[in-house]
Amino acid sequence: MLIKRKRGWEIPEQQATPESVYFSRRKLLGAGASLAAASFFPELASAQRAADLPDPTASYYPAKKNAKYKFDGVLTEEKVAANYNNFYEYGTSKYIASAAQRLQIRPWQIKFDGMVEKEQTVDFDTLFKAVASSLEERTYRLRCVEAWSAVIPWTGFQMSELVKFAKPLSGAKYIRMETFNDPKMAPEQRPGFLSDGNWPYVEGCTIEEANNELSFMVTGVYGQPGYKQFGAPIRLMQPWKYGFKAIKSIVRMTFTDKRPVSYWEKLQRQEYGFWANVNPEVSHPRWSQATERDIGTGERRNTVLFNGYGEYVADLYKNLKGERLWA
Ligand code: MTE
Repeated sequence: MLIKRKRGWEIPEQQATPESVYFSRRKLLGAGASLAAASFFPELASAQRAADLPDPTASYYPAKKNAKYKFDGVLTEEKVAANYNNFYEYGTSKYIASAAQRLQIRPWQIKFDGMVEKEQTVDFDTLFKAVASSLEERTYRLRCVEAWSAVIPWTGFQMSELVKFAKPLSGAKYIRMETFNDPKMAPEQRPGFLSDGNWPYVEGCTIEEANNELSFMVTGVYGQPGYKQFGAPIRLMQPWKYGFKAIKSIVRMTFTDKRPVSYWEKLQRQEYGFWANVNPEVSHPRWSQATERDIGTGERRNTVLFNGYGEYVADLYKNLKGERLWA
């Protein structure tokens, strides 16, 4: 059972966890077991990660820092951020770091299909080399829809590079992204668990959003590649949106003229929509989004419109009247 000491500011886990609606007592017991494993074996995750090395991309790290994108607050300590993750393929608790070491990140292929000049399946290391000259480190705040946040140095490249690489046709408007689906690698993807056949995790954005300078494909974190609990070998960061949009361990990108339906949207449409831009004034149906807990400092801070990145992205939405932009 998840045992949590509640402090005054805390949102009860059952309220603030998207999947909680689907929790059964048995599932909760399972989540409790992984929490126990993580706290008894705190070194396990890093030891297992070391066993995977050498990583063929390792010599590119640490990448040059791009300090253009300012963030408010302090960098979250690596050991804190690396032990508080959402990666439901590995369980429903935040303490999935050890379980996520089962993720096999080599070989790793990514398929580009749909409305593109030519469909292609590319090995991650080949793709990485093609974009490596633009590799950089950016520190962004990740704001989870569950009202917690962390400030993390992400290494990667602008998503616009990937759009260029894929060569979409002019009629393509959206990108649908998919995570791996392999219960051998992620036992929680077994049928019936959490999603009733809803795997794999799917997310999407418009091509305009993908080409925004903030949209970032992450290949490393804290100056290193291959950090499995963060979604190695490649995940998305769009820091003005709630964290559930930041899909991890991507294997497929489909260019389409139809708006993709995400994993969470399929499960709970009334709570998790397509746009999911951060807005402190629009509450989640079950809790307020006015403030958030910084997992590094433990302090509560005010949530900011577009998570503080409005100057880069507000224009993307100004003509979208009638759309549910905030949840
Ligand atoms: N991607 C996949 N494939 N599976 C997930 O469960 N969780 C999302 C997002 N990407 C998730 C995912 C959610 S809800 C959040 S808040 C962020 O990842 C968390 O990223 P972090 O663990 O690196 O902090």
